[in-house]
Amino acid sequence: MAIHRNQNGDIDMTFKDDVDKGLSAPFKYLLSRYFYDACGDKLFQDIMHMPEYYLTDAEHEIFSEQGKHILKAVQHDGTGFDLVEFGAGDGLKTRILIKRMVEEKADFRYLPIDISGDVLQALKFELSLEFPDLEVIPEHAEYFTALHNISKRSGRTKLVLFLGSSIGNFAEDRTVSFLNVLNEKLNSGDRVMIGFDLKKDPEVILRAYNDEAGITASFNMNVLRRINRELGGNFDLDKFKHFPTYNPESGFARSYLVSTDAQEISIEALGKSFAFAKGECIHTEISRKYSIPQIEKLLTDTGFTVQEHFLDKRGYYVDTLAEKKPQ
Ligand code: AVI
Repeated sequence: MAIHRNQNGDIDMTFKDDVDKGLSAPFKYLLSRYFYDACGDKLFQDIMHMPEYYLTDAEHEIFSEQGKHILKAVQHDGTGFDLVEFGAGDGLKTRILIKRMVEEKADFRYLPIDISGDVLQALKFELSLEFPDLEVIPEHAEYFTALHNISKRSGRTKLVLFLGSSIGNFAEDRTVSFLNVLNEKLNSGDRVMIGFDLKKDPEVILRAYNDEAGITASFNMNVLRRINRELGGNFDLDKFKHFPTYNPESGFARSYLVSTDAQEISIEALGKSFAFAKGECIHTEISRKYSIPQIEKLLTDTGFTVQEHFLDKRGYYVDTLAEKKPQ
């Protein structure tokens, strides 16, 4: 099998090392960040349109119905601000909020941050058609590098958006370290708005990660497709089964790929094979669900003061506004 190389003709070494580490561990795992290539991005777009995946609709409802109220909370001192967004992607989640802010004539600039430069240019172009007077300054960098650059350039207060329950995909220790670093990089008076998926009927949650059409299964399997294409792996996708779980006590939804047979997988770029017993699994994703008290504790412990929770009507999801505590 041919190995697909990147633009420089190289294999992505971090991907290679992470795959090696994950498949060599006593309990095999692969990082969910590797779901996202062109095919994975498309599958995730499809997931966001699925009837079972309530998260996108809930956040959309919050922004469309409470946008005015959110703006009031954000603009409490009436001065202009920079609206910074981590992982802006195609800006779909945020467009409705931006629309409300433009309609209310808020004094703000939009600074989307993403690791994909192409996505950012497309977003800037689309926003220029819809909101010709809005200043859009894309930041093509890692989140914290971009935040640092923004702070160096501008003294305006920042509102940092981290939407879509992306925080739920972090392991517990990474969630805390991420929020601590974010807090450190902000100035007092800066704020964050973070989307958290809430604990609810476990069956509603499980259905969101185990849709009838099998789109989530294909999304989960995409990491195997990538290993096959980019590292010369020989995973047979028909010999793995998507298996999502949800623990209502911990709030952890976890997805696995379970080997339906005893099999040996070889990966050319690693020069190695990995044995799978029948029924052995690879852990591929965490999608954590929170309670409101857990969110408050998490934010308070990492240097923020919670200001307001914006919930959808069903109480499935929350966008929480918090301010950096004065030092
Ligand atoms: C991107 N992230 C918040 C999604 C989630 O719900 O954890 C990714 C996803 N995985 C399966 N379906 C959607």
